[in-house]
Amino acid sequence: MKTVITIVALSMALATAPSTQEGKTLYSSAKFKCFQCHGPTGVEGGAGPSFKGVGKKYDKPTLLEHAAHKCPPTGACNPKELGAIVDYLMTL
Ligand code: HEC
Repeated sequence: MKTVITIVALSMALATAPSTQEGKTLYSSAKFKCFQCHGPTGVEGGAGPSFKGVGKKYDKPTLLEHAAHKCPPTGACNPKELGAIVDYLMTL
């Protein structure tokens, strides 16, 4: 029984990983272009600041607000996609 609970807990923890992975992909995508100013993986910086340790500096709502600053002009960013990008930035 204990083993079953451990396996369930482990798979739930792993289930959160794809969002971070998706965020990483979106971060580097031609749609969002975040990488152009914040560096290829987000820690290099460039025209914009590096995101290293940004998860300790800001909480998620603040980052979501900041993350929307260069959303594609064709429309508001999809909140789910933006959330995934922020989840990724918070791991840096
Ligand atoms: C054209 C260049 C450019 C692009 C593209 C860009 N940023 Fe930025 N970003 C900046 C600059 C410059 C700043 C600092 C000044 C400001 O806040 O506008 C910044 C600041 C930020 C901050 C605040 C960081 C801090 O430490 O205060 C976040 C979060 C952020 N950007 C997320 C994103 C995300 C997510 C994307 C992609 C959707 C993105 N940025 C695309 C240039 C850019």
